[in-house]
Amino acid sequence: MKINFTINGNHICLDIDPMRRLIDVIRNDLGFTGTKEGCGEGECGACTILLDGKPVTSCILNVIHADGKEILTAEGIAQKPIGKLLIDCFDETNAVQCGFCFPGFLVVSYYYLISDGEPSLKKIKSALSGNICRCTGYKKIFESVMLACERKPRMNTNEHE
Ligand code: FES
Ligand code: FES
Repeated sequence: MKINFTINGNHICLDIDPMRRLIDVIRNDLGFTGTKEGCGEGECGACTILLDGKPVTSCILNVIHADGKEILTAEGIAQKPIGKLLIDCFDETNAVQCGFCFPGFLVVSYYYLISDGEPSLKKIKSALSGNICRCTGYKKIFESVMLACERKPRMNTNEHE
């Protein structure tokens, strides 16, 4: 079956089994290996992408769910001004150790910054509650996102994508 979608700005047309897992197509067929597989059951958030602008766990979706849609992975977000801001803030606060969870946290944090972005610890915790980190501890991760929220108003960007 033919499946069409856009990923990180590139239009893709694949002749593919529509029931294949979206994460496998993203990682293995298209090479966007920033999307990680942790639990494979929709529980850890490592495989999170934005699908038509909303965070979804790509390990529990079949590729047919992406047909006609727009995908943004951690690689695409890393090219955007708010993505770069978040990466700088995670770096500054030493919020990443092994880095396995980071792409998923980057995706949900980016979504929070473009959809709300209030520097509220309560809201940030809630926005990131679906993602698991086995090393760093959440305090520094929340601090990073808080820092990005505080700095975002000073950026010369009105990024909403
Ligand atoms: S690998 Fe998809 S949610 Fe854990
Ligand atoms: S930094 Fe290792 S899982 Fe989060």
